[in-house]
Amino acid sequence: MLAINQSDWQPNHIPVMSNQVVEALNVKPHGNYIDGTVGLGGHTRAILEATDNKCTVLGIDKDPQVLKIAKKRLSEFGNSVILAQGNYADLEDICNKYNFIQPDGLLLDLGISSFQLEQNDRGFSFLRDEHLDMRMNQSDSISAYEIINQTTEKELANIIWEYGEERQSRKIAKAIINHRPISTTGELAALVEKVKYRKKTSRQKIHPATLTFQAIRIAVNNELEQLKKVLQVVHNLLETKSGRLAIISFHSLEDRIVKNYIRNNSSQKPRNRWELEHTTPPLWLQISKKVIKPSEKEININPRSRSARLRVAEALSIMENIDDKN
Ligand SMILES: C[S@@+](CC[C@H](N)C(=O)[O-])C[C@H]1O[C@@H](n2cnc3c(N)ncnc32)[C@H](O)[C@@H]1O
Repeated sequence: MLAINQSDWQPNHIPVMSNQVVEALNVKPHGNYIDGTVGLGGHTRAILEATDNKCTVLGIDKDPQVLKIAKKRLSEFGNSVILAQGNYADLEDICNKYNFIQPDGLLLDLGISSFQLEQNDRGFSFLRDEHLDMRMNQSDSISAYEIINQTTEKELANIIWEYGEERQSRKIAKAIINHRPISTTGELAALVEKVKYRKKTSRQKIHPATLTFQAIRIAVNNELEQLKKVLQVVHNLLETKSGRLAIISFHSLEDRIVKNYIRNNSSQKPRNRWELEHTTPPLWLQISKKVIKPSEKEININPRSRSARLRVAEALSIMENIDDKN
């Protein structure tokens, strides 16, 4: 059993691609950076250390428990760190509230932290038997229990298919409906395992319940919608200072949203005069056309980084773009 009490929990946390993140954000002394997913503060620390504590970071997290740990771990940086409990989807409001205007960069390191995965009673892991919860912010009203026990078979199958890309979504949804009520992560994991093993797919490398758990977690926390929402406002926030956007995702659903957003709003050389006159001004300059992945060395040290993908872009000023055309 991996269960750990919050007070005993020792951070065994290595931030993913932290050198690449510092480079991606073009971190400079006196800059103002937003860490929209501050978690245990690993990336925030890397940003502050890169400037000898001469920049400021606004660290946001949904999870009040995580923020308590971040506060402790980042205390040595004093006033250079501002911690805010909130949802990065509400980025503009949070920046206004903390008077954090014209930031030089935003980092999002998506998903859950090792603390959330390993902490007792959060219900994120199929390796322990706990109440089905999975809420990043435990004051949110809908937990995994409601989704598992109160949605229709069709809705459940859609969630498992869309957010987990699980091929056996319909079979799993049917089994869940037939075995309700399901109260714990252990019951759910065992049920999914039973359904999947019947199909003799036991050569899979990942636990058979991985994709179902991912799907339910994304649905509980509305993760993809929140990512889309922050992308709608981030250019507005970053454009004045030509700020950088750096996003680390851990599965293809998130990475696709980020990739398409940056690609569809980046400068592309017009092929003719008509295109020059009719293309809308680009919002972003892609800093790295190729997605950035962790090195083999990093993966060996921190296997959790294996699926991480970093995308980076610089906000272009719309007014300058329009002037360029005239
Ligand atoms: C992968 S961890 C970040 C780890 C962090 N970069 C570090 O080095 O410690 C992701 C964090 O983002 C938080 N989070 C996820 N979605 C969020 C959202 N919409 N708004 C704010 N925080 C969110 C989670 O609670 C979690 O603590």
